[in-house]
Amino acid sequence: MSDRVAAIVPAAGRGERLGPGTPKALRLLGGVPLLVHAVRNLAAARQVDLVVVAAPPDQVTEVRALLRDHHAGAALHVVAGGPTRIESVRAALAALPDEVAIVLVHDAARPLAPVELVDAVVARVRAGADAVVPGVQVTDTVKRVEGEVVVETVDRRPLRAIQTPQGFRRTVLEQAHLAALATGGDADVTDDGALVERAGHPVVVVPGAEEAFKVTRPLDLVLAEAVLQRRRAGGVR
Ligand code: C5P
Repeated sequence: MSDRVAAIVPAAGRGERLGPGTPKALRLLGGVPLLVHAVRNLAAARQVDLVVVAAPPDQVTEVRALLRDHHAGAALHVVAGGPTRIESVRAALAALPDEVAIVLVHDAARPLAPVELVDAVVARVRAGADAVVPGVQVTDTVKRVEGEVVVETVDRRPLRAIQTPQGFRRTVLEQAHLAALATGGDADVTDDGALVERAGHPVVVVPGAEEAFKVTRPLDLVLAEAVLQRRRAGGVR
């Protein structure tokens, strides 16, 4: 049986929390769009055979040209994304060739996720997990709040902040998306792991990586620039 690996990159979000302007995936980090960093890191993982990008629907041609011009380095498809992240992932899933058996889903907004993390997630799926998500410990104290009043302080020890790339057996991810589509209840879902969990499959957590943080707010871009400079100074991409 074929066990080729495809990585889906949802990149169709506006990224309004980062400020107005260009879609987030196309904002520059070290002079290169976030999306190009993300695709290069995935392509650098030996186990990834194909990358499928879900682009902003009105910028599919531009994104194709951009990835070609930057030699993003993988076998690459670009499809039109949807109005939500989950719909963007679904559009990319529909474009996968038959021989793909393992699917990674990785946010364009996590441009610095280390190649080692990509490899670790694929390895865990190959070792038999249906669904794998990277998680890091929560460092802030977490409270549940109603209005302006604290109603509970949550024990943070068992909590994990979940990152991407997330890895799935393709059939499991497709079933989870179909189930969510049938019930129409995916409006509040922010990652694919949650869909698989709702569909009743176990989701395994592997150690995440600090550098896989998501670029959401302006300060995240400042941090990402610093990390990139340190990597470049150290001779790493
Ligand atoms: O907005 P947020 O940072 O949670 O987005 C996570 C990822 O999902 C980003 O890479 C973004 O481009 C992508 N996305 C998408 N389609 C949407 C909304 C978000 O591909 N409609």
